[in-house]
Amino acid sequence: MSPITPSEVARTSVVRTVAELRSRLAAHRRTGLTIGLVPTMGALHEGHLSLIRHARARCERVVVSLFVNPAQFNERSDLERYPRRERDDVALAVEAGADVLFAPSVEEVYPPGFATSVEVLGLTDRLEGAARGSEHFRGVATVVTKLLCMAMPDVAYFGQKDAQQVLVIRRLAADLNLPVRIEALPTVREPDGLAMSSRNALLDPDQRVRALALSAALDRVGELATAGERSAEALLAAAHATLSSAGVSPEYVALVEPDTLEPIDRLTGEALLAIAARIGDVRLIDNATLRPTPAAPSSQRLPGETITRCNA
Ligand code: PAF
Repeated sequence: MSPITPSEVARTSVVRTVAELRSRLAAHRRTGLTIGLVPTMGALHEGHLSLIRHARARCERVVVSLFVNPAQFNERSDLERYPRRERDDVALAVEAGADVLFAPSVEEVYPPGFATSVEVLGLTDRLEGAARGSEHFRGVATVVTKLLCMAMPDVAYFGQKDAQQVLVIRRLAADLNLPVRIEALPTVREPDGLAMSSRNALLDPDQRVRALALSAALDRVGELATAGERSAEALLAAAHATLSSAGVSPEYVALVEPDTLEPIDRLTGEALLAIAARIGDVRLIDNATLRPTPAAPSSQRLPGETITRCNA
């Protein structure tokens, strides 16, 4: 297959307005084709591409949105520095199976007079909400609700790296009776364990090495849990020690109940271990789900059987 040229890609696939998006999708909808939506802020990496490929394998039409949503950035400098490379994104998304790229302007999404916001209460007070302020999830919830209303997909795909975001989106879709299924797919990692993120491109070589402390801390806690440690205090202390030995002081390290995000004292069932840290001025997050299983007699136990990190 000859490579897709940028002009071909742009001509065939990119739509900029809600009206164009709706008219592109209307015929598909009338004929009952399944529509999948992969919302992104661009700077696509393998994590996004795995969502697009997954959607391609399951839906008859795949829409990818590329929109750096100003409403969810609590720091102006973070918004300004956020990587933007639409040409590359379009080619990558088409290659991975996108049929339609929706790349609206800020004015198209938030026209003059725009005055509505979606706020998911409770869940958004914790972890990222506590660290970044309430405007972050208000911005995410508002834009995702709008994207779901604009594209009206049957299924929307998100990465489990943003575990709290997935919970917030599932909650809003259920509460607002949106006729969409929300699917979360496992975090995609670099070979050395670093979770893929558009922000990784902002790390210098030294910061890139230090950033590995996040996945190393998740691994260390997984090992301790596998060895039978159940105290949240001990598990969290081990995560802090791993981070601090790499010179990383986290914004938070939390062991929480995976649906409510309530802190837990002991690992008795499935739990979410979540970390946020700044490496220089690049803010990264990562998480793992810990699943204790009933201990088998040690003679029958395989390494890693007692507890598994499912989204490593
Ligand atoms: O996860 C992201 O990239 C963004 O938060 C999302 C879901 C595309 C909303 O802007």
